[in-house]
Amino acid sequence: MSHTPVATPITLRQLPRLRPRHYGQLGGLLRPGTHSSPLLEFGKRFVIAPPGFPTMLVTHDMDDVRELFAHRDDFSIGQVLSRLSSHDRMFGKQTLIFLDGEEHRRERKLFAPSFQHRALESYEDLMVEVVRRELPTWPVGEPIEFLTMGYDLAIGVLLGVVFGDVAPARADRLKQAVSDWFGEIESRGFLAVTLLTPLLGGYTPPYPPLGRRQADVDTVIIEEITARRSDPGYGNDRGDVLSRYVGTDLDQHDDAALARNLRGILLGAYETTAITLGWIAAMLAGHPEVMAEVDAAADSGDRARLDAYLDAVVAETMRLRPVSPFTGRRALRDTVINGVHIPKGAIVIVPILLIHESAEHYPDPMAFRPERFLDERPNGHLWLTFGAGPHRCLGAQFALAEARILFRTVLEHRRIDTNSGPVEPPRRFHTGLSPADNARITLLPR
Ligand code: HEM
Repeated sequence: MSHTPVATPITLRQLPRLRPRHYGQLGGLLRPGTHSSPLLEFGKRFVIAPPGFPTMLVTHDMDDVRELFAHRDDFSIGQVLSRLSSHDRMFGKQTLIFLDGEEHRRERKLFAPSFQHRALESYEDLMVEVVRRELPTWPVGEPIEFLTMGYDLAIGVLLGVVFGDVAPARADRLKQAVSDWFGEIESRGFLAVTLLTPLLGGYTPPYPPLGRRQADVDTVIIEEITARRSDPGYGNDRGDVLSRYVGTDLDQHDDAALARNLRGILLGAYETTAITLGWIAAMLAGHPEVMAEVDAAADSGDRARLDAYLDAVVAETMRLRPVSPFTGRRALRDTVINGVHIPKGAIVIVPILLIHESAEHYPDPMAFRPERFLDERPNGHLWLTFGAGPHRCLGAQFALAEARILFRTVLEHRRIDTNSGPVEPPRRFHTGLSPADNARITLLPR
């Protein structure tokens, strides 16, 4: 149902409001099977207003969603992340996702070129090379947890793309520092801090171990930046993100700020990519008919055909398993979207997974059918795995190309054993969707 704008906007008070007894049902919108949520009885918009929290409008009215993302300067994603989670401490408040308006636009322009069009082509060799390096170490003919491989591939590609050829001793220190830092983010201590944040009104208590790990990462990155600045010839013919930046017109940060931004990019890219690679493997293993198409394309030697089919597999996997099943924006000022008055401070939640599972947008929505994206690319309004609007994922094109290239290279050398059983569910009690059994599959020789 579409809501035509009316002269007097409706207020959040006039919309259906969840009672506390419904709150337990919200988790059902975060996991596959959203279409059977009892909350759908409230219609396309409902309001949640727990005491002590900002008022939240959940809407899957696509006119609301389109208008929300079209408002460039009236909403903030950073303010949602810092009110409901510990992301500001994880990323640092000066990183891209926390900036708004003009400052965000300016900063985004500086980093976007490294992740678009021509730059993307130059990363392909590195991606192929990372698979060739890792593949011989993966067991064949016995079950493996492909999520682990996903993490190895993701970090190998990321460090190569962002930093290029770093001197071996420094590269080892960088890898270690990054791995310790990611480990600290996953620690029980930081999880407790994350869970406390929404209850403390968005205040994330300092967590010194994380601060120390971040400082260690920054120290190595700054060393590398200094090395590049001090030798103008260094990195001249290199295509990595840092070389595309240092000493160019884009270079407008001091070293500490540049290091912070690069660290933010690593964090935004690492886990999301690894988990998506895990889901792709799990989806292929659980769908023999899809795997048969992949095998036919791989065995034909027709790379364009394999690439086209893999692009569709990636898009379809990300429709059914978006790493983040929702996104949100907080109103920076009183704003009207599609005839609804959103007061300053209120949060609008977009339930991405629910939209992706809607029969209104995708026929037979729960079926894993890459064919739906063979002739048609995902529609930017209805396929929201990377979000939308000014804060849409900076690495979206990069991540899509990366998934295709990595899987193409793996599948040119290996088959994935299939089963017709259900695909493993997401981990319990997690708001992000990650495969509960770590994407357990068996690789076979090709
Ligand atoms: C499959 C992999 C990935 C997924 C699912 C993903 C998902 C997302 C999502 C949902 C957002 C928020 C968008 C919104 O709500 O509108 C986002 C933002 C962002 N992502 Fe990704 N991402 C992925 C890979 C990457 C990669 C490879 C990079 C590296 C360049 C990256 C860098 C960023 C940055 C910098 C932002 C903030 C953009 C801004 O605020 O302007 N992401 N991503």
